[in-house]
Amino acid sequence: MSNTLPPLPYGYDALEPYISTEIMTLHHTKHHQTYVTALNAAEASYAKASTPKERIALQAALKFNGGGHINHSLFWKNLAPSAAVNKGTGGVLKDGPLKAAIEKAFGSLDNLKKQFNTTTAGIQGSGWGWLGVNPTTKVLEVTTTANQDPLLTHVPIIGVDIWEHAFYLQYKNVKVDYLAAIWNVINFEEAEARYVEAVGSSKL
Ligand SMILES: [Fe+2]
Repeated sequence: MSNTLPPLPYGYDALEPYISTEIMTLHHTKHHQTYVTALNAAEASYAKASTPKERIALQAALKFNGGGHINHSLFWKNLAPSAAVNKGTGGVLKDGPLKAAIEKAFGSLDNLKKQFNTTTAGIQGSGWGWLGVNPTTKVLEVTTTANQDPLLTHVPIIGVDIWEHAFYLQYKNVKVDYLAAIWNVINFEEAEARYVEAVGSSKL
């Protein structure tokens, strides 16, 4: 039942030059691993807890570390080596249902990037920027969550980690440069698969 750190679907240097090898290595092996370890500890304590008070006391740890594990697991798959440096298909949005939905909701991919980056850069403190499907309207929307809160109001299509540990070693305080760069390594094929599942899903 224990949660485990999922392997990266590419090498630690695969997202260079947009996300450095050092960041990827620390982010995956240290930060994400810490959420997994702490989530397992909190789940084990919860299983042993015998009173409501003991269980309530574990809620914050479960939410924080469980959210951290969910968000990072999604984030790694959300990225891919960049086509801009002939390493892969990252950053390329091909014709298809996702491109059509982005153009319908935002006018263009560039407009989506602008809105996403402005909204995400505006997060106070740590959090996540999201492109998600509104489950009621099935329309794509940009939204954010604080801390390690997972996205529950929408079906996540693309999530970007805006914690300092995700960019500071390379971009220092210039969050907007990190946000501009990350679009070069967004895995739009994964995003499209999530989108198609979301709009066709009865779970919505
Ligand atoms: Fe992170």
